[in-house]
Amino acid sequence: MLKQIGRIADECTGEAALFTLSQEKPGDWWEVEALYDLSFAPGRTLLSSYRLRDDVPPVAELCRVARDESGILGGAIRYWPVRIGHWHALLLGPVAVHPTAQGEGLGAALIRDTVERARALEWSRVLLVGDEPYYRRFGFGHLSGVEMPPPTNPERILGLELVPGAWQGVAGEVTRYA
Ligand SMILES: CC(C)(COP(=O)(O)OP(=O)(O)OC[C@H]1O[C@@H](n2cnc3c(N)ncnc32)[C@H](O)[C@@H]1OP(=O)(O)O)[C@@H](O)C(=O)NCCC(=O)NCCS
Repeated sequence: MLKQIGRIADECTGEAALFTLSQEKPGDWWEVEALYDLSFAPGRTLLSSYRLRDDVPPVAELCRVARDESGILGGAIRYWPVRIGHWHALLLGPVAVHPTAQGEGLGAALIRDTVERARALEWSRVLLVGDEPYYRRFGFGHLSGVEMPPPTNPERILGLELVPGAWQGVAGEVTRYA
């Protein structure tokens, strides 16, 4: 299913780009990886959170790409399932927007679109490791008692409830969905 988001003006040319969000296809994989390589610090896949993704398929319906009218990739988001004890959660990320398109609402559009889809798919809770000042606008808050693989700064472990109370009582180590 496609979803178009508002026109985003290019600072230099003044031209607007109309981005369309759609589900990532298998053929998009390496292009999305290249965008992540460009957007994150080198060695991103060595981060401990990536070990939760090893040999686990992402949640296909929630892996979405944003392309402009020329088909150029502007942003991408992926999700993986994880376990915390007997609970299930979605691990949001990576999410990235191309440096030339940042700050124009594309990241927010990818996050809002996929959070709504996750709710519709009847997931209960979302987890991520990231900057609370960015993610709190989407309703994410600090999680206490939820432990990501070390070394992860506990201050950066954030959660969002897709149904009321979904994080209440959920605690323990986050493990691979195997
Ligand atoms: C983080 C990212 C996905 C946001 O996408 P975006 O399209 O640039 O962001 P939006 O246009 O939706 O939002 C822009 C706002 O978020 C703020 N913001 C962006 N990154 C932020 C961060 N790390 N911490 C706090 N605020 C942040 C901007 O300052 C801006 O604030 P404003 O609305 O007050 O002007 C994008 O900047 C990116 O790809 N960064 C590099 C990769 C990365 O860090 N990914 C997230 C990993 S946790």
